[in-house]
Amino acid sequence: MMFDALTVLPSDPILGLMKLYRADPNPHKVDLGVGVYKNNEGQTPVMQAVTAAERNLLAKQTTKTYLTPLGNPAFVEHMQQLIFGSSLMALEGRIAAVQTPGGCGALRIAAELIKHANPKASIWLSNPTWANHKPLLGDAGVPIKHYSYLSASQTTLDWPAMQAALESIPAGDVVLLHACCHNPTGVDLTFEQWQWVAQTAQAKGFIPFIDMAYQGFGDSLAADAAGLRHIFAAVPEALLAVSCSKNFGLYRERVGLVATLCATAQQAQAAQSHFEGIVRGIYSMPPNHGAAIVAEILQDTSLTQQWETELTQMQQRIQNLRNDFVRNMNALGVQGFDFVNQQKGMFSYLGIHAEQVAWLAQHKSIYLLSNSRASIAGLNQDNVSYVCEALAVSLNQA
Ligand code: LMR
Repeated sequence: MMFDALTVLPSDPILGLMKLYRADPNPHKVDLGVGVYKNNEGQTPVMQAVTAAERNLLAKQTTKTYLTPLGNPAFVEHMQQLIFGSSLMALEGRIAAVQTPGGCGALRIAAELIKHANPKASIWLSNPTWANHKPLLGDAGVPIKHYSYLSASQTTLDWPAMQAALESIPAGDVVLLHACCHNPTGVDLTFEQWQWVAQTAQAKGFIPFIDMAYQGFGDSLAADAAGLRHIFAAVPEALLAVSCSKNFGLYRERVGLVATLCATAQQAQAAQSHFEGIVRGIYSMPPNHGAAIVAEILQDTSLTQQWETELTQMQQRIQNLRNDFVRNMNALGVQGFDFVNQQKGMFSYLGIHAEQVAWLAQHKSIYLLSNSRASIAGLNQDNVSYVCEALAVSLNQA
């Protein structure tokens, strides 16, 4: 029988952890696993700007007929303004873009485009990177390689090692960089480091591919996009995958965008036709609802303001939790966790061993990834001291 050849695959490290957390009956359990924003009550509420946009859409919508492989045109246009800001004008005509099912869809469509354009190219990922980058990009058939990123302490960037790695990447290969809020470490590049990457990409001929899943979660919408804006202004060719899951809280609606910068308008037209052909060949076209919500927010000044206010509140809450975490660890007399305050976005690597992570789950019902990635948004005023005390005890385990 054909399916006799199949064996059960191991669980996905992030989705498997979500399942374990849900199954744990302990009322004090803490979810520091999946990268989903939570408020102080541990809920992931629908943003008010999203609810208001949904109401508008319900009142206005007259049809559910097909979109095209491009997706919702207003979404594609307004997202480019959000991503590139005033630097968009200078790129006029050289960008191809389509709406995708989430940032995951964007990554996969980009990998398919790379295969169409240059079947010999490899994609280089930071070591470490988000667990799903390899399957999403590698399963498209593009070889995956890794460049150095973290120092031995696992808490800061090893910039000289990263520079040496990028300098040795062959022309024509693609280098994936996290725009902000690096997943899983929270360790980001400074603007000067982005400038160096742009210069080196030009000098060596590799193609930067920026993954931006957390715009607005690091410092601000503009600051989080500053590196990618610089790259797109400086190099002839680049790729971009964007997710609206986190900053619009539209996780399950699956909304994202893939874009590519080409050297000429003619090449951008060709890339656009390939994007649309690839989409047609995989899922024909994306769903409308989530993209229509984003478009509705971004084309209405008061909804945009409301959304930005809510996004800033989420960003600040995570930053405050980082401060609370460090304060609690210091109060417990445990040194060496101040780095959590310097890191950005949803995640930090806590730098503990897999055995200590397992101990936290088994004895304290605190769930984080085995590589010690903690989703800071899972902390709150009620559980932060519990987590810090448990973490302090776990340091003496194994
Ligand atoms: C995460 O990294 O936890 C999120 O991006 C969710 C996911 O799909 O893995």
